[in-house]
Amino acid sequence: MGEIALYPGTFDPVTLGHIDIVKRARKIFSSLVVAVAENPQKSPLFSVEERMELIRTATADIDGITVTWFNDLTARFARSINATVIIRGLRAVSDFEFEFQMALMNRKIEPLVETVFLMPNEKYSYLSSSLVKDIARRGGDISCFVPEVVGAGLKAKFGA
Ligand code: COA
Repeated sequence: MGEIALYPGTFDPVTLGHIDIVKRARKIFSSLVVAVAENPQKSPLFSVEERMELIRTATADIDGITVTWFNDLTARFARSINATVIIRGLRAVSDFEFEFQMALMNRKIEPLVETVFLMPNEKYSYLSSSLVKDIARRGGDISCFVPEVVGAGLKAKFGA
């Protein structure tokens, strides 16, 4: 489809679950904007610039991807870049309630922007950036959860 789709998230850091969603979204939409939400209330480990660079490197072999950041309302930001679709991943039923609420709120803010939910491969359904950071902080092996460049970035942060 010719529309521009926006995939927003904190991406602190991007995981293979996020990359799985990026690939699925690109099969449907020819242009995908992956946008890092500043989200200071989550006290991110990686800066916005670092998060963008990790996503850029991890998606370098996928065409049709633009990486950027925003600190606006997601729905308003979508409109400002002419995106007609917001992509969100649903890992498990537990994601549903919050995502449902956000999708309806975003629709209220920008009625012309639709939210499309995609399910990542089930092998990533238990994955989250917080868990990956916790494992890495304690010196555990996270290589099967994150792109190589993110593994190196986590090692650099935790001095392992
Ligand atoms: N694979 C693996 N993990 C995934 C995943 C996937 N496919 N999809 C989500 N996750 C995980 C993330 O790693 C993250 O884990 P963490 O909480 O342990 O860090 C968690 O699920 C959610 O992260 P993410 O998808 O990055 O999104 P988010 O919930 O942090 O981001 C925004 C939400 C940015 C979209 C939302 O806060 C927002 O819209 N903010 C802008 C302000 C706004 O518009 N507010 C009004 C909203 S109605």
